[in-house]
Amino acid sequence: MSKSPKTRSTKPNRTVSIIGTGSYVPERILTNAELEKMVETSDEWITSRTGIRERRIAAEGEHTSHMAAKAAQNAMEQAGVTAEEIDLIIIGTITPDTFTPATACHVQRILGAKNAACFDISAACSGFLYAVEIAQQFIANHTYNTVLVIGADKLSSIIDWQDRNTCVLFGDGAGAAVLRYRARSHGVITTFMASDGNYGDILHVPGGGCAMPTTPENAGQKLNTLKMNGRETFKQAVLSMGAAATAALAQAGLTADDLTCIIPHQANMRIIESLADRLKIPIEKFHVNLDRYGNTSAAAVAIALDEANREGRFKVGDYILLVVFGGGLTYASSVIQW
Ligand code: ACO
Repeated sequence: MSKSPKTRSTKPNRTVSIIGTGSYVPERILTNAELEKMVETSDEWITSRTGIRERRIAAEGEHTSHMAAKAAQNAMEQAGVTAEEIDLIIIGTITPDTFTPATACHVQRILGAKNAACFDISAACSGFLYAVEIAQQFIANHTYNTVLVIGADKLSSIIDWQDRNTCVLFGDGAGAAVLRYRARSHGVITTFMASDGNYGDILHVPGGGCAMPTTPENAGQKLNTLKMNGRETFKQAVLSMGAAATAALAQAGLTADDLTCIIPHQANMRIIESLADRLKIPIEKFHVNLDRYGNTSAAAVAIALDEANREGRFKVGDYILLVVFGGGLTYASSVIQW
């Protein structure tokens, strides 16, 4: 009889929980008043249109991996997990330190997480939730036990600081979570993920990739900076996050009334208010920090989750909902029992 090969685990899927969260933002604060001196704008315009009052900007020489590692150390400390215990590191980022190696490999080196496999994913502001779902699958099916998920971006490195349409909106930072098997709650109950590539050009960085490499001839055109159609992005943000949250709640068999806290992507206060209206959820249930950090891309929802967790906005057993959208267009929502 021929020898049969070993197969992947046939054990039933197991429950996956977030057992620790962490975050990091750079020290340097860039206020609306300072932006008034850089482009034709005003504190009143920025605050009334977006809710953003200030954002953090990474120091020179401070890369995405440095911020990511600090957020990770924070999360590992809360989780009581050592670097050697981490089986996998996934980073959602659109501002990697280098195209290769992956930023996750740079973070592995900083942390000394020598037993981890590492890769990055590119899903813009949805990167953290996409990564949570990938991690969830790996743990649920018994491939790995402990996964470090990070959302980190240094958006200041791809902003055109002379474009008032974009430069007032973004900031730098990182948020992290440690995921592991845990039997005492339902953990990450479900994640709905979706994309619509037809809307790719409403929020994109046109150059720098193989389609349009930076050359001495086009270098002055700032093709490697973020371009945005603000009004269309606003509209798609409300529609896509509304659809994702509704789908995730339906998949989980829950209603909005079951939720203790909602952690949305932190892009614009008016987007969050429109989403609250659409979902018929009181705005007080939403955790908002965009007034202090602006939009930190993949880091935004992760930083907000860490803040809400440390502030005690929910306790073990409560249901929370995370919901995001970003360039791509990508969008996602997770329902978690803490
Ligand atoms: N200061 C002053 N005026 C400005 C500024 C500014 N910083 N930025 C744009 N304007 C001007 C424009 O030039 C335009 O002027 P015009 O009418 O003379 O052409 C006008 O303001 C635009 O006004 P509105 O369209 O009324 O502005 P709106 O209410 O749509 O607000 C905003 C603009 C804040 C950009 C909004 O559309 C928005 O938030 N969109 C979504 C942005 C977003 O979330 N992006 C990132 C999402 S995904 C990710 O996180 C990577």
